[in-house]
Amino acid sequence: MGEVGGTWFTDDIERVIVTEEQIREKTEELARKIAADYSHVPTVLLVCILKGAVMFMADFARALGREGQAVELEFMAISSYGQHATSSGVVRILKDLDRDIAGRHVVVVEDIVDSGLTLSWLLKYVASRSAASVEVVALLRKPDAIKVQVPVKYVGFDIPNEFVVGYGLDFAERYRELPYVGILKPEVYARV
Ligand code: XMP
Ligand code: MG
Repeated sequence: MGEVGGTWFTDDIERVIVTEEQIREKTEELARKIAADYSHVPTVLLVCILKGAVMFMADFARALGREGQAVELEFMAISSYGQHATSSGVVRILKDLDRDIAGRHVVVVEDIVDSGLTLSWLLKYVASRSAASVEVVALLRKPDAIKVQVPVKYVGFDIPNEFVVGYGLDFAERYRELPYVGILKPEVYARV
């Protein structure tokens, strides 16, 4: 598995789900689509959901820049009550928006849509702040896990219903720096 590379995390990865190159190509494709859809909007307000979406946000914002679409960046951190691997849909704001988003065209940048509960809450929240429009771009989606239907207009990859790490996604705060998205070996979970 050349893709996995020879680093501290190499031995922990069972298999790569989305490669670095696939992420790069998909990010450019999504940016082209969104730049075309928002050509009438002078500035798109990207709202990154920390921490998982941080890598995607950084790459996606630059891809939009290359397409000539002006953006501004905002960050929110939210946490769902309960255990980390499954989402309860009860959301707590750890870091709120810094600025007023009234009248702005917002694109929420998410790492992954799992049950959809987090996003469903978030979309209501952004709408309650009187945004002119709200759409979602998610790099990953687990179609088998969806519990609530949320309108995610832009999706990178549909992936199997397994826990993934890398490219911003963590297990116990580790593996975020992996340049690809992969699945951990079962023994990694047994170690903790
Ligand atoms: P819901 O279920 O509300 O959850 O759509 C979305 C959030 O849950 C986290 N999540 C994951 N994190 N690997 C991760 O590292 C995964 O496979 C995974 N699935 C869900 C993530 O924070 C996401 O924003
Ligand atoms: Mg996490």
